[in-house]
Amino acid sequence: MRIAICKTNSEAAALGAAEILTALRRKPDLVLGLATGSTPVGIYQILIRAHRNEGLDFSRVRTFNLDEYLGLGATHPQSYRAFMNRHLFDELNIPPEQRHFPPTEGDRLEEKCVRFEEAIRAAGGIDIQLLGIGRNGHIGFNEPTSSLHSRTRVKTLTPKTLRDNARFYSDGERPPQTAVTMGIGTILDARRIVLQAFGPPKADAIHAAVEGPLSSFWPGSALQLHPDVLFLLDEEAASRLSMREYYRQAWANEEEMRKAGVL
Ligand code: PGA
Repeated sequence: MRIAICKTNSEAAALGAAEILTALRRKPDLVLGLATGSTPVGIYQILIRAHRNEGLDFSRVRTFNLDEYLGLGATHPQSYRAFMNRHLFDELNIPPEQRHFPPTEGDRLEEKCVRFEEAIRAAGGIDIQLLGIGRNGHIGFNEPTSSLHSRTRVKTLTPKTLRDNARFYSDGERPPQTAVTMGIGTILDARRIVLQAFGPPKADAIHAAVEGPLSSFWPGSALQLHPDVLFLLDEEAASRLSMREYYRQAWANEEEMRKAGVL
């Protein structure tokens, strides 16, 4: 687990975007696992600038989004499809047929979830998975007590998540109570994971994910099982980490070794 404690969100976004841009230059048909929410937007803005200003080509990139609400419909402004169009897809040249979302339309969703997992495998697996984390430690919509081996499936959202999401809906509108999400097992299959978290509300979830015991009650702690996770945090999200001075020192040492070509 690598942990960068950044001075600003933009420093974290630059580090996250650099992971993607470096990988894309090596592998033009990169497979990206994408996240929604406020956290990844800074990374998306840097990817858009690289496409616009440097002509970086995304036409062979395949994407798989982490989650999507049930019952909103793709064109609802709060659907994650609409979010991704607004914040990324409308500005890049990834062909629509190469963008994948967990299935939320029609019936037989369990069968469609199996096919979504098959599509990830057919693409060769996810190279880099972007993640945020909820205040309750959820990754994707894997709420507390989600199986650490779970795969893509329908999940009922917790009251805490519903409260966090309520601000996006107008008075009288009922926010979706369920979503389809990649499972924790699906996320752990990605080759590399980049998780960003900013602000005091994320401090407990980050503490549990990095230093807590492995527990389905804090789904982010499952990342301890993954061999290549990068946490990009601000000071506030890192504030409850008891070994944060060590993480700073380890990050600085490893950066130096990377520059010197030792790593
Ligand atoms: P946020 O959400 O990026 O809007 O903080 C993250 C999450 O709940 O997974």
